[in-house]
Amino acid sequence: MKADEFYQVKSEHSIPFYCWSEKELEDKRPMLSVKEQNALSIQSFKAGCGDVALISNDKGALKEVYIGTGKGDDALAIAKAVHVLPEGTYTPDNSCSNLALTAWALAQYRFDRYKKRTKLPRKLLLNEQVLHEILPDVEAIFLTRDLINTPAADMGPSQMAEILEKIAMQFGAQFEQYVGDALLEHNFPAIHAVGRAAADEPRLLSLTWGEPLHPKVTLVGKGVCFDSGGLDLKKSKAMRFMKKDMGGAAQVMGLAQWVMQKQLSIRLQVYIPAVENAIGSQAFRPGDILKMRNGLTVEVDNTDAEGRLVLADALAKACEEKPELLIDFATLTGAARVAVGTEISALFTDNDDLAHAILKAGERMNDPVWRLPMYQEYASDLNSSIADLANSGASPYGGATTAALFLQRFIDSTIPWAHFDIMAWNVKSKPGRPEGGEAMAMRAIGCYLESQYHCLRD
Ligand code: BES
Ligand code: ZN
Ligand code: ZN
Repeated sequence: MKADEFYQVKSEHSIPFYCWSEKELEDKRPMLSVKEQNALSIQSFKAGCGDVALISNDKGALKEVYIGTGKGDDALAIAKAVHVLPEGTYTPDNSCSNLALTAWALAQYRFDRYKKRTKLPRKLLLNEQVLHEILPDVEAIFLTRDLINTPAADMGPSQMAEILEKIAMQFGAQFEQYVGDALLEHNFPAIHAVGRAAADEPRLLSLTWGEPLHPKVTLVGKGVCFDSGGLDLKKSKAMRFMKKDMGGAAQVMGLAQWVMQKQLSIRLQVYIPAVENAIGSQAFRPGDILKMRNGLTVEVDNTDAEGRLVLADALAKACEEKPELLIDFATLTGAARVAVGTEISALFTDNDDLAHAILKAGERMNDPVWRLPMYQEYASDLNSSIADLANSGASPYGGATTAALFLQRFIDSTIPWAHFDIMAWNVKSKPGRPEGGEAMAMRAIGCYLESQYHCLRD
């Protein structure tokens, strides 16, 4: 879906809207004309969040709109209100926050690749400057949602590679990939093992952009295009939405596009292990022992704990290049969902300053993040008697922490590292968050990166 369908910079005719909190309604009501006051009363407009009042002119045509923001959350208000506005082009009032202007489009998003939308977009009239500020956000989130929503049959490792290459070309970035046996030649054994049973060959995708002298920031995303569970096959209910198991990669692709559009002062490195965790005669097995990129041996306890295996090779590679900051995103465990539910992204890091800054950025962007512990005592849950560690263990507890501790074995401890265990999916529609693929933790990290490495060219 295209983000710019919802915005215009020129229009013959547009309808102004005013966002008023309950308090503002109380203060400003006496300044309205009697006709306007009556119209608000007839429509019982109390400025509750998302309330809408339509005011017509003498000819009965729509003249202006009032949108209630309740206690003042204009982004939530717009996300609710946009659905009840008649078709047309609208001009926001000056007080509207950029989050609210973004919510205008985010709320109207539909995944329309296979079923055409019936409702016409409500458009927002903005000046060039404001549009320039918000469009990268909307485009990144739409890209992320589209990637996740696309079924695995049309979003396998090769299609993900094509899309990343196209993004790279658009911004003059370098794109590289190691495909199939090249993974073995270049020492990415776990990515190969997990993906080798699939018809669409496994690969590691790489995108590099920016001045080599700028601080290096590396983003890694779990790109399991479909997670059947491998030979330890998932139950049907658990498998149903596993097209979204490349949700981490989708965050990284959206974020990479955003960083390049915003021209942040970083040297950006992206790594995406893109595989399908399939079954077949080539499939890796429970009990197999993998020798990982960094030399550690891992006993495969369960082929469904595949995300940590492919990430391990990618993270080890990332650390060899000593980035200033390393962040990974992954739909890694069901346990993280049990811990924080479907709407909150679980954050793991040993770096307190980084954690605080990310939590703050998440709050600011309405992209909730919660920190979970890297409790070292649980590392023994991954002990193996015949390998350095196992990819899962017998304990039914603390699964998100043990997965994070597994990843930590492949990280250079001198590098600031944050790991997100995310849902990447709205299980039901909420204002501004339609059911299906979703950007999670991506806006928080975008905001954090912007605060640290803002563009020097503006
Ligand atoms: N992709 C799943 C995790 C997942 C499930 C994320 C549901 C979001 C929603 C992952 O590969 C997986 O299957 N993990 C297992 C690990 C277990 C075998 C140690 C899990 O969480 O059950
Ligand atoms: Zn799995
Ligand atoms: Zn998975």
